[in-house]
Order: sequence, then C-alpha cells, then structure tokens
Amino acid sequence: MTEPLFSEDEEFDRPRLAAHGPVRVRVPAKINLHLHVGPSRPDGFHELTTVYHAIGLYDEITARRGDTLTLTMEGEGAGELSLDEDNLVIRAARVLAAETGHEPHARLHLKKQIPIAAGLAGGSADAAAALVACDQLWGTGMSRDDLAAIAATLGSDIPFLVLGGTALGTGRGELVSPILTGGHAWHWVLAVAEEGLSTPTVYKTFDEIGAQTNAGPPDGLLAALRQRDPEVLAAELANDLQAAALHLRPELQGVLDAGLDAGALAGLVSGSGPTCVFLAEDARHAALVAAELEARDCCRAVRTAVGPVPGARVL
Ligand code: C5P
Repeated sequence: MTEPLFSEDEEFDRPRLAAHGPVRVRVPAKINLHLHVGPSRPDGFHELTTVYHAIGLYDEITARRGDTLTLTMEGEGAGELSLDEDNLVIRAARVLAAETGHEPHARLHLKKQIPIAAGLAGGSADAAAALVACDQLWGTGMSRDDLAAIAATLGSDIPFLVLGGTALGTGRGELVSPILTGGHAWHWVLAVAEEGLSTPTVYKTFDEIGAQTNAGPPDGLLAALRQRDPEVLAAELANDLQAAALHLRPELQGVLDAGLDAGALAGLVSGSGPTCVFLAEDARHAALVAAELEARDCCRAVRTAVGPVPGARVL
C-alpha cells in the first residue's frame, strides 16, 4: 500500500555537515483529492480524513549564512505578506533551531509562485521548505520523520509538504502516510481566484451552515488512483469544504461550471478554496481546458500542473 518517496540511500547520504554555500529548496503546492471533515474537536480543529496530492507548482527558498534571521521575498504576495515573526517561514526556522540547539541565524529568500490564501497550502509549503533548507544549512541532520514531527507543531498540512507525493492525512491532517499510486501522472488545471479565502473562516462557515459531509471514507478514490483511468478518478474527487467555500464565494460555482463546460472531467474547490481544480485526461487536454478557461476570463489566473511530485527537496 505504501511506497517510499525517497530511497533509504538518499536518506543515508544526506549531508550532516553545515552547508557553506546557499541552499536552495523547492516545494510544491498541494490539492486535496478527497477531504472529509469530521466533528470539531475540543482544541478547535476538525477531525479530517483527506487524500493530499502534491502538484508541480512550486515555491523556492534559498537559505544563506547570516548573523541574524531575516526573510525577503519576491513573486506572489510580495508587499502583502508579513515577513516578520508571524510568517510561517520564520517560525519554522526558529522551531528547528530551538529543537536542535542551533542559533537561528540565516538569510532566507522566498520566491513565490503558489498563490496565497488559495487553498493550495502555499504558506505551509514555505514552512516545509524552510525546515528542509535550515536543516541543510545548519547541518542538523534531521530525518524526514523528525522534520515532519516538527512540521506538525507548526500547521496541519506542513508534514505532508515535507513528504509530498500522494498521501492519506488523518487527525487534524498532520498524520500522513504515503499512498501507492504506481508512478502515474495526473493532469490538473487550476483556476486561481482574484482574492483569497481564510481557512479558519471556511471551517467556521462549514460548522455554521451545518454542511453535509458527503466525502465519507476515501476507499473509492484509493482504488481509482490505482486504476490510472482519469474518468474513474473524476467520479471519486470530493471535498466537504466546497459547500462552505461556495457559501462564502457563490461566484465560484460559475468557475466550476466554466471548467466543466471547457471539457474538464471533474472540477472541485481545492482545500478551503477559493482555487478551483479540474482534472484533465492528459497534458494536451489540460492545455485545451486551460486555454478555454482563460478565454472565459472568470478568474485571476489559470495554471496547469502535474501530480504527484515529491515534497520539499534541496535542489
Ligand atoms: O493547522 P493550520 O494552521 O493550517 O489550520 C488553520 C486553521 O484551519 C485552524 O486554526 C482551524 O481554524 C482550521 N482547521 C480546522 N481543522 C483542521 C485543520 C485546520 O478547523 N483539521
């Protein structure tokens, strides 16, 4: 059922010495192929059963030696995102330093392509990249499992971004186990909205509107992933948060309809939204659906991406 995303050799060969030159780490966005939201827990989080899927839309973090901890950025969200102590990248570097007894000194630069507040886990991806980059820069020699455990203290979907691929997420989403997908590549089209949605607000709305939980257990999806037939997979994609995202942003229904009109096999809201994600048959079909969606001018940007791809990795 499970397959390693990195070989034991790769794990064994990871350098334990601090890096002198810059360390570049690339990290993917995620979509949820299945997202079942259970009851809210005493800690305020909801119990989840989800199937995460890492797609080839990337942020990049470069870590250099420095006398303090600083963060600069370019790309999506530049000028909008806080680069202070509350940024997940800075928090990730500080937590890793505290856990390993290193000074939290690094000059971090973030190149962002993953849209913010989009339901693509961009902020979580950056935190995962910061953990992997600082681990290498400081030579802390943490295993992927160690990094995933630290990641879980920072956010529910950060352990998945350390791992990548396709994985089952349980608990509040932080408990991840890889899913065997046999190396098949799936082709996705993303419709990125003009304005983001706040994840806590979407979960709160989910509770307030008493949204139906249609997603159930992901057994059909897991079987579909093994069959490698996009028509079969299309019928199994499900997201319990979609109703809440549509409640907050009714115009997303128009985007979903446009994607289906454009010939996509299926469309759903990604995570807490507002990005809508569409499944295509192959790369050519994805390009056609993307072109048609762009022509309809119903969203800020259209992207194509392949999944699954590995999680945060040193380049
Ligand atoms: O864990 P993360 O910081 O990404 O979660 C952001 C917010 O999303 C939480 O504060 C919570 O409001 C909501 N959430 C939830 N249940 C989850 C994951 C997130 O209610 N399983």
